[in-house]
Amino acid sequence: MTHLGVNIDHVATIRQARRTYEPDPVTAASLALLGGADVITVHLREDRRHIVDRDVRLIRETIPNVLNLELSCAEEIVTFACGVLPDQATLVPERREEVTTEGGLDVVGDSQRVARAIGRLHDAGIAVSLFIDPDLEQVEMAARLGVAAVELHTGAYASAAGNSRMPAQLAVELGRLVTAGKRCTELGLKLHAGHGLNYLNVQPVARLAGMRELNIGHSIVARAVFVGLKDAVAEMKRLIDAAVLVGPDTH
Ligand code: PXP
Repeated sequence: MTHLGVNIDHVATIRQARRTYEPDPVTAASLALLGGADVITVHLREDRRHIVDRDVRLIRETIPNVLNLELSCAEEIVTFACGVLPDQATLVPERREEVTTEGGLDVVGDSQRVARAIGRLHDAGIAVSLFIDPDLEQVEMAARLGVAAVELHTGAYASAAGNSRMPAQLAVELGRLVTAGKRCTELGLKLHAGHGLNYLNVQPVARLAGMRELNIGHSIVARAVFVGLKDAVAEMKRLIDAAVLVGPDTH
């Protein structure tokens, strides 16, 4: 079964726009759960621009779902994670100027820093996933770093899927995900994916052999504005389940 991780950062973004108490991402986590989310995903950024420490602590205490905490390798954030004990920590790159996470973590170029963060998280008993580009060198290094899972960055695939004038590029990007995904499963890494996935482009990714978890935020929260979060999550869950029922693509 492919799990749906619902990223609720954008709910906190709306709250922070007014520095008020609403909408509360903790309530969002409950509603996502009612809609069928398997995992609640939050990114505690170093600048706390959306999710803040209190959100993570309360979600950990009140929501029975798997909690996936996205975080950078910064010492302070890793220390926080070790105190809250999420079920999974996904290490992501972070730059203050970026609008959202751009590109995967460079686990080849930054292996020592990444290894230090992994070591601390493992010592606390937290399973670690690495958010990386669908690149074989990155996948091989992720396996050497001894993590449980890899989340393949689907941003380039999503951009190609959103541009009907680039059908060849779409095939290339999907092919990169297929190849990297296959290597992940061969190396015993759990296969996750996310970034830019939406109701139109999710199914080919959900169908990749061995896909275990998809983390989706923007598209679900955008739809929730019109239909409510519970229904928006339920519709995404239906699409993922239907894709998986068809079986793996033979790319
Ligand atoms: N996975 C990771 C590691 C991310 O950083 C993000 C963006 O916060 C997502 C998934 C969700 O991306 P989107 O909001 O485009 O669905």
